[in-house]
This record gives sequence, structure tokens and C-alpha cells, in this order.
Amino acid sequence: MKNSPKRLIQGVVLILAALLMFLFLAMLERVSDPLPKFALYGILVALGCVVVGIVMSFARGEAQKKERTYNMQKTIAVIKGDGIGPEIVTEALKVLDKIAEKYNHKFTYKPVLMGGCAIDETDVPLPQQTIDVCQCADSVLLGAVGGPKWDSLPGDKRPEKGLLGLRGALGLFANIRPSHLNPVLADACPLKDEIVGDGIDLMVVRELIGGAYFGKRETFVKDGEKVAYDTTQYSDSEVERVARVAFQMARKRRSKVTSVDKANVLDSSRLWREVVERVAKDYPDVEFSNMLVDNCAMQLVRNPGQFDVIVTENLFGDILTDEASMITGSIGMIPSASLGAGNLGLYEPIHGSAPDIAGQDKANPIATILSAAMMLRYSFDMDVEAKNIEDAVQKVLEAGYRTGDIMSEGCKQVGCKEMGDLICQNI
Ligand code: IPM
Ligand code: MG
Repeated sequence: MKNSPKRLIQGVVLILAALLMFLFLAMLERVSDPLPKFALYGILVALGCVVVGIVMSFARGEAQKKERTYNMQKTIAVIKGDGIGPEIVTEALKVLDKIAEKYNHKFTYKPVLMGGCAIDETDVPLPQQTIDVCQCADSVLLGAVGGPKWDSLPGDKRPEKGLLGLRGALGLFANIRPSHLNPVLADACPLKDEIVGDGIDLMVVRELIGGAYFGKRETFVKDGEKVAYDTTQYSDSEVERVARVAFQMARKRRSKVTSVDKANVLDSSRLWREVVERVAKDYPDVEFSNMLVDNCAMQLVRNPGQFDVIVTENLFGDILTDEASMITGSIGMIPSASLGAGNLGLYEPIHGSAPDIAGQDKANPIATILSAAMMLRYSFDMDVEAKNIEDAVQKVLEAGYRTGDIMSEGCKQVGCKEMGDLICQNI
């Protein structure tokens, strides 16, 4: 639209130039003296040049238009995965398309395989092509992987191995999982009112590519029986980098960090504690404390309001984030971001692939949609757009729409697709 007056002028100039040429040609027919005829030829050539110039600038404008008109262009690797993965990711992409349209961005999606569907098609849970596409993208959006179909496969061939491999290949060492008790979903919270108090609003920063998940392991036979072990190892720098993410997060929130370990038993935890205490000195404005993991598991259901940011190692973080999500009502509401040193991130709901309800339009797409919002905020620096999605989700919940997992009396139950549509309508 902006170019319309320019186009109009160009059009008028072209028509005038063509008319003039026609006029000159007609005059040339009548002039017999070679000198004026020569001058007229000159004018004709000049006019021709003007016409060619205008046509070329018009064509160039058209070619550049496609690049110029977007505020931002981003490439997103999309892993729909298994079970409910495809349904929930489809809704998140609908929401992203709505955002792109409203804010004049361009999101290009690159679908890739990982997990069970990758095993079915390529024999491995994480094809090299998936790693390559993800590494070249601006961010990765993931649904969920795994299911009973692949449960009997050996450990290194399981769908989950694909997820761990991708986290490792992309160097995503910090996994951020917010747990916020939404007042409109207070009924879904399993804790008593007096325990919830003023609410729950915490963030777990989980170390994601170290510890027992990535340590040396073995299964062998000794003295006629099977024996297996896994090892938990952390280096000073691995702890330091994730601790810094937690302290920086805390500064944007309520400035409180609780580091969770098992330093009364494990060497790896004693190193963890030593390093986090050292890093804490660089953030004197942030209130800091240590907590043992068993105590933390208890405190989450005894007094969850005491936590702002929790930072912990991989395995403890896996367990505590399921607990932290459940106390807010439904695991189907919690998004997550996995971040590394650069802007590239992997965004996924923290719930699994729920094969029991897959393909039935029953899944809750909100965790994936909120994961897409985190992607806009953390990888693309689009705070306004992210907030727009979060507000839209809130409006839909306030209007009483619920998927089955968060359904309560007096609300209107909707399917996965309708929930996605309702959120889009509120953007
Ligand atoms: C999670 C999941 C994964 C994990 C599984 C699927 C490997 O439980 O993201 O919390 O343990 O990290
Ligand atoms: Mg988990």
C-alpha cells in the first residue's frame, strides 16, 4: 500500500512517455530536413532510455519488496515428534503464524524428525540431518517424543536418546521451567489454600547436558548376576555457567536463588555447592541459599511460595520440575526453554507424548503455545509478541475455556484444535 502513489506516478510517466514517442514518430514521418530529423531521433532515444529506466526500477522494487517488507525473518526447526506431539505443535504454529501476520514478521518452518517417528523412518532416533537443520535454524520447537511402541528398544536406540542427543549437540546447558499458579486455575491445584498462600511463582533452572544423563554407564555380568552403574560428573565450568543463568534470571524476578544439591552425600554435589557459592558473591543483590534435594522436594509441597529461582543439576531438576508443575495444577500448562551460549534455543512443553490420548483432539496445546512465546522472548528478543501470546492464553482461560486436563465445573470443555483457534482469535 505504501508504494501506491509512487506506482501511480510511474504509470502516468510511462503513458506520457509512450504518447510522446508516438507523437515524435508521427512528426518524423513529415519532416524532410535531415537536421531536425536527427534532433528528433535524439529525443526519441532519450525518451526510450527514460522508459527503460522506469521499467527497470519498477522491476527492482518488486524484487526487493519481498525482503524489505518484514520486520524480522526467522527460521524455526520444527520437531512434531510422537503421540500428541503433532497436534499440539500444529496449534503452536497457528499461533506463531498469527503473530507473524500481526507484527509483520516471517517465520519459516523446517520440519525434521526425532524420536519414535525418526526410528520408524530412518532407524535412528536422531538423524544427522535433524541436527544439521537445527544447528542452522534460529530456534527449535518440539512437541514430545516417545511411546509404548518403542519402549522395548535398548537404551541408546530409544526415542528419548534423540532428545538427549539434540540437547547435547546444540550445547543447551540451561533448561528453564517456570511454575506459576494461575489464579483462574486455582481449582486444579492439589494443595490446600493455606499452603498455597499468596500463590506459587517459581522458576527452575536445570542443568541439562551433564550429570548422570551424560556420565559413564555400564551394564555387565559379575559373579553370575547383572550389575549396572551410572555416574554423575560435573566440572567447575559446567556448574558456573548454569549458576550464572540462574542469578541473571533472578535479577529479572524477585532476586532470590536457591541452589539444590545432595552435598551431604555426593562429591559432585559438594563441588556444585562450592562453585555456586563462589558465583553468588558476584550477585550480592540476589538473596542466596543452599538446600538439600530431599528437603526441597518436601518444601515444594509444604511452602512453595518461598521459592523464586531454583538452580539444580540435571537429574534432580528432572524430578523437581515434574513436582513443581503438578502443584500448579496441570503439567499440560508448563512450557520450557533450553538455552546455550548463543541465541539458539529448544522450546518444548515439559509434559510427555501422552500416547493414550494421541490423535483424539483431546490434548492441551497451551504448554506448547507458551513454549513458542518463550521462544519469541528468549531467542528472538520479541517481548511484546511473547506477552501478546501469554495474554491471549490468559483471556481464553478467563473466558472459561478448558481442555480435559484442566476442566472444572462451570467451564466449557474444548478440544486441542478449538483451544488453539480461541487463542489465535485473542491475538
Ligand atoms: C524431561 C523429560 C526427559 C528428561 C526425558 C523424555 C528424556 O522427562 O524433559 O523432563 O528426563 O530430561
Ligand atoms: Mg522430565
